[in-house]
Amino acid sequence: MAPRLCLLLGALLAGALDAQQQQFMEYMERRLAVLEERIAQWHDQSSRYSTELRDFKNQVITMMENMEKERERLHTEVETTAVRVERLEREVDYLETQNPAPPCVEVDEKLVENQVATAKQRKNEKYDKLTDCSDTISQVKAMKILKRFGSTAGLWTKDPVGTSEKIYVFDGTANDTVYVFPRMREFTLFSATRKAARIKLPHPWVGTGHLVYGGHLYYIRQHGTFQVIKFNLANKTIVDSSVFPAEEQIPVFGLSAFNYIDVVADEEGLWAIYATKENEKNICLAKLDPRSLDIEQMWDTPCPRENAESAFVVCGTLYVVYNTRLPSRSRVQCVFDVSGTLSSEDASLVYFPKRYGSHSSMKYNPKERHIYAWDDGYQIIYRMEMKKKTEV
Ligand SMILES: *[C@@H]1O[C@H](CO)[C@@H](O)[C@H](O)[C@H]1NC(C)=O
Ligand SMILES: *[C@@H]1O[C@H](CO)[C@@H](O)[C@H](O)[C@H]1NC(C)=O
Repeated sequence: MAPRLCLLLGALLAGALDAQQQQFMEYMERRLAVLEERIAQWHDQSSRYSTELRDFKNQVITMMENMEKERERLHTEVETTAVRVERLEREVDYLETQNPAPPCVEVDEKLVENQVATAKQRKNEKYDKLTDCSDTISQVKAMKILKRFGSTAGLWTKDPVGTSEKIYVFDGTANDTVYVFPRMREFTLFSATRKAARIKLPHPWVGTGHLVYGGHLYYIRQHGTFQVIKFNLANKTIVDSSVFPAEEQIPVFGLSAFNYIDVVADEEGLWAIYATKENEKNICLAKLDPRSLDIEQMWDTPCPRENAESAFVVCGTLYVVYNTRLPSRSRVQCVFDVSGTLSSEDASLVYFPKRYGSHSSMKYNPKERHIYAWDDGYQIIYRMEMKKKTEV
């Protein structure tokens, strides 16, 4: 009896275990199914995300490509415009060369009348040359930018007489000090004025019309009227001074209002360029005796003051340099030959290479045939090419 019971119990137990296992398996299968479904969902989602990401990336790439194309197009456009502007500038230069400034020619006739009217006053008389110099400038052969020094306006110069190599610098448009550098090399190398010698003048100077000539400094002083002062550089004393014999002086150059008298040198000697209220449209010229400071002769030139920035004299011919109020290219646009040999039509229109701003001074050195220019704080040397005046 006992063994049969045991068997029965055993079978019952086994049956119960089977049922439990079955239940467990079913439960596990359900869980797995849920998990599988979730995984499938995740998969779905992630593939959607990755598609979206890919689309977005493609969009960005296309946008960037378009932007790059646009940038290139703009770049090309800017380049083409620059080329066109340059070509236009050249054309304007060419046209200006072909059509010399009319005011010179027009006023020329008036000048002839003036000559008759004032001939007795040693004004506008024909000039007897001291030298056989018959050159006229034809163009700027070369230029050299030496350095940038001091204020936007100023003057630098070198004695054209004798062998002195000294460079004299007037920084600004009014002061009482002049810097002296032993040679060009020192002027170029020194970064400051510390190493330069200084000359403190007995009276302050005004403008940029000063000059060193034959061991003397000729400088402009304003003391009510304007004076030209002759200062000996060797013993540092005033040798002579004279009140400039023009009444109601006005600035000589329309674009450089600080200059009332510009003393310049050429092969013939010293000249003074000035302007007065009486003849306020045009520039006047006077021949100056370097020994006594006497005015030997005076001329009303046909050169307008308007838009003039500077001027210089070469072989008895005045060259006036013009610019515009917004500085562009400086050019000689009016010439006046005191001996009457060079006609306006004959003179070349000389263009200066485009630089920084406008020239506050341009000092011609007749020995070297260079122009010492001060352009917006830059010190520049222009080497001039000459040609012979064609006799009329
Ligand atoms: C001259 O210039 C220097 C340096 O710019 C300045 O310090 C001085 O005051 C000026 N002198 C006169 C008299 O203007
Ligand atoms: C300075 O030199 C000049 C020219 O040599 C001379 O005329 C003048 O008398 C000298 N002045 C003085 C104070 O030595």
